[in-house]
Amino acid sequence: MAENNLTPVRQQYLSIKKKYPEAIVLFRLGDFYETFDEDAAIASKELEIVLTSREMGKGCKVPLAGIPYHALDNYLARLINRGYKVAICEQVTKPGETKGLVQREVVRLVTPGTVVEPSLLDSKTNNYLTSLVLGAGEVGIAYVDITTSEFATTQLPFPRLIPELKRLNPSEVITAESSDLSELDLTAPVTSLEDYWFELEVAQKTLLDHFNAVTLDGYGCANLPLAVRAAGAILHYINETQKGVLGQLTRLATYSTESFMALDEQTQSNLELFRNSRSGTAEGSFLSIIDLTETAMGGRLLKRWLGQPLLDIAELVKRQDAVSWFYKDTIARKRVTELLGDVADLERLINRVKGGTAIPRELVTLRRSLEVIPEMRGLLGPHEGDSPVKWLKDLLKPCSEVADLIAEAIEEQPSSSLGEGGVIKQGFSEELDSLCLADKSTRQYLANLERKERERTGIQSLKVGFNQVFGYYIEVSKPNLSQVPSEYVRKQTLVNGERFFTTELKEYESLIFNTRERIEELETNLFNRVCRQIGTATERVLATANALANVDVFSSLAEVAMRHSYTRPELTTDKAIVINQGRHPVVERSLVDSSFVPNDIHLDNDDAQIMVLTGPNMSGKSTYLRQVAMIVLLAQMGSFVPADSAKIGLVDRIFTRIGAREDLAAGQSTFMAEMVETANILNNATPQSLIILDEIGRGTSTYDGLSIARAVTEYIHNHAGLGTKTVFATHYHEMVELASFLPRVKNFNVAVTEEKGKVIFLYKVVPGGVDKSYGIHVAQLAGLPKAVINRAGEVLAELEGGSRAVVTEPPPPKPSPRRRRQKIVVQQMTFFGPKPPAVEELEKLDIDALTPLEALTRLYELQKKAREG
Ligand SMILES: Nc1ncnc2c1ncn2[C@@H]1O[C@H](COP(=O)(O)OP(=O)(O)OP(=O)(O)O)[C@@H](O)[C@H]1O
Ligand SMILES: [Mg+2]
Repeated sequence: MAENNLTPVRQQYLSIKKKYPEAIVLFRLGDFYETFDEDAAIASKELEIVLTSREMGKGCKVPLAGIPYHALDNYLARLINRGYKVAICEQVTKPGETKGLVQREVVRLVTPGTVVEPSLLDSKTNNYLTSLVLGAGEVGIAYVDITTSEFATTQLPFPRLIPELKRLNPSEVITAESSDLSELDLTAPVTSLEDYWFELEVAQKTLLDHFNAVTLDGYGCANLPLAVRAAGAILHYINETQKGVLGQLTRLATYSTESFMALDEQTQSNLELFRNSRSGTAEGSFLSIIDLTETAMGGRLLKRWLGQPLLDIAELVKRQDAVSWFYKDTIARKRVTELLGDVADLERLINRVKGGTAIPRELVTLRRSLEVIPEMRGLLGPHEGDSPVKWLKDLLKPCSEVADLIAEAIEEQPSSSLGEGGVIKQGFSEELDSLCLADKSTRQYLANLERKERERTGIQSLKVGFNQVFGYYIEVSKPNLSQVPSEYVRKQTLVNGERFFTTELKEYESLIFNTRERIEELETNLFNRVCRQIGTATERVLATANALANVDVFSSLAEVAMRHSYTRPELTTDKAIVINQGRHPVVERSLVDSSFVPNDIHLDNDDAQIMVLTGPNMSGKSTYLRQVAMIVLLAQMGSFVPADSAKIGLVDRIFTRIGAREDLAAGQSTFMAEMVETANILNNATPQSLIILDEIGRGTSTYDGLSIARAVTEYIHNHAGLGTKTVFATHYHEMVELASFLPRVKNFNVAVTEEKGKVIFLYKVVPGGVDKSYGIHVAQLAGLPKAVINRAGEVLAELEGGSRAVVTEPPPPKPSPRRRRQKIVVQQMTFFGPKPPAVEELEKLDIDALTPLEALTRLYELQKKAREG
């Protein structure tokens, strides 16, 4: 269709849409955001709004679907959550202000990583936009949360990438067109940008221009090319999508994951750090158990601490000292908690103020939050000299100039929209005050006019009114029309009467309109000026927000410690982990009618390096394993721990391999997934790590499983680069034998007793191996039919009696955990019989000489052989 056949609005739309082909363009037309063409089809489907069409040029009917402007947030959330990008195109001039068409411009391109609407954000979670640059063996990661202005970059070895991404949990990832991220299994949407923006020189220039600097030395990333490239590209992307946000990014932190304990994906999910593995929600997660923070900022900080346990003992002791202080001073802690209850999300608030999107009410919230600071400082204050919280007090900047300015300028309860008066306080602007006064008196005049005219004309039913189309009028009903004075001018005829105006009324009307327009303009200007002035204090407010977040986390950790009897662990750099009467922080809270049985542990690279833990089903092995890992984690966050006392030699990584987890989504069999995870552990653990192994080898036949379990244990014990502290829970009784020839392996079991044929779980970890399994007992508890239980008892008796007839029967087709006892016994029998060739070969293997991958390959071969007999 010829361009000139189209209406000017259509032409304007098309030229804007051309620039945003990948986004849904929300095109502001008066009180609506309209979508057209394809966008309209998508919007109508996703938002369940009516799809219509509109004539926009000769013979040109265009599909259209619109939403009212005030409902934008809600609809935007739905589009963004479904993975769309949305370009918001506003009217940037007022109708009549310029000749011809109202000008329109895309003011924001909203993508999942760049939303700022509070309704689209989780207050206790950062919303990270992440940029990735893949190099040879290393990667650059930069991330920005534009709602809090956090901007950081790093360069790290490839194996640390996935844990770091897991920690950041980005809402959107940007990368160069040419890089392939398909291997990473990202859940966040990926946006590809031209390679150009990721080139080192280009990125460097973007950063230097932005920070107005001549070198990146001061940002700590000058020698980290991948970090620079990632950071530069992210700035470019924000500039493209969010006009005006860039100014808020005034800091760039270069961080190193080396100073944090790496928590890989398995460990995060095995320990249910952030999400409960059954429901996938935060409820019941480790975080939810230790999170008593009052503010959104505190919540985000605590989450970050849990995801990044520290390796630096000095920093940890500093945190512990602060927790201790809050722990001991209950009065201060309670009051601090109360005060924090009044503190809003300062990080996000100040960003909205600076970005010009804050509404009047938010300024009042900002002021109230800042007003707690003097008292907060006082609470942290009286302890002069070397108080462990003095640094927090120093970080807490009063920002009184901001609070004062808001108190002076903004009403206590401002009206919700700008421009109607009622936002700026009386006394702040003389000009505004006099306008408001004038407005009030003209309104007063109009209010009096009705009475005056009734008296003057004698028409009792005379009314003065207003409507949007005709403005002010005097209404007289039909029977009284004869009494209307001659100077009344007819304006509108109604069914029951007529409406008039007078010269005087007209004059007042224009006076009112005029005044209101000026009030609207002036109030908006004043408000924006106040916002700009507050914006200049952004740095201070952010620093204070950070201090408040710290105070929140410390007092919250202290409160948890107090409520649940945690103690301060002693942190060391030696090789031992000693915990007295430790408890599982999550399980201990979930028990209702029994109490949690605490347990000790002593691990030490030099003698008690590997703990082999046996015990019947349901006896508490997994709980014990996780408890050890969680106590170490808590200690390395700077928190107190659920134990009577603990001495923790800091660990550089916690590895966990727990249970037989199906990883069907990744196309891996249970066993393969298990072996990949095990390989990861053997390749990456160091003597300073902690390894938690729960039932490895479970995903395959007993025979293979036991072989692997043994081989892995021997490898950890003997390999020069490992010697790692390990707790290994297993059903294989044969594992107990290892202690007789591996000096640093110690056997433990979870005690049970039997009373009148009933098994009683004691949940107590005691030295020594286990002699009985009680699997059938558990099967009974689980409600298996009585016939099955009885038969299992018989089979067991036969097996234990050594009846070969039963043993030579083929094993049941599908091993299930509840049948494990039978299978183990089958296994034991085989062990005592003549050695099959595979076993002989296994014994000859020089495991130390094998790489984990070779070991895995050999295992497959052995398994094949064993199966073939
Ligand atoms: N120390 C304890 N004190 C009290 N109850 C406990 C304790 N440890 C575990 N339990 C209870 O026992 C249940 C089973 O524990 P857990 O899953 O650790 O056993 P398990 O030995 O690993 O079992 P399986 O061999 O079937 O994997 C837990 O859900 C918990 O309710
Ligand atoms: Mg278990």
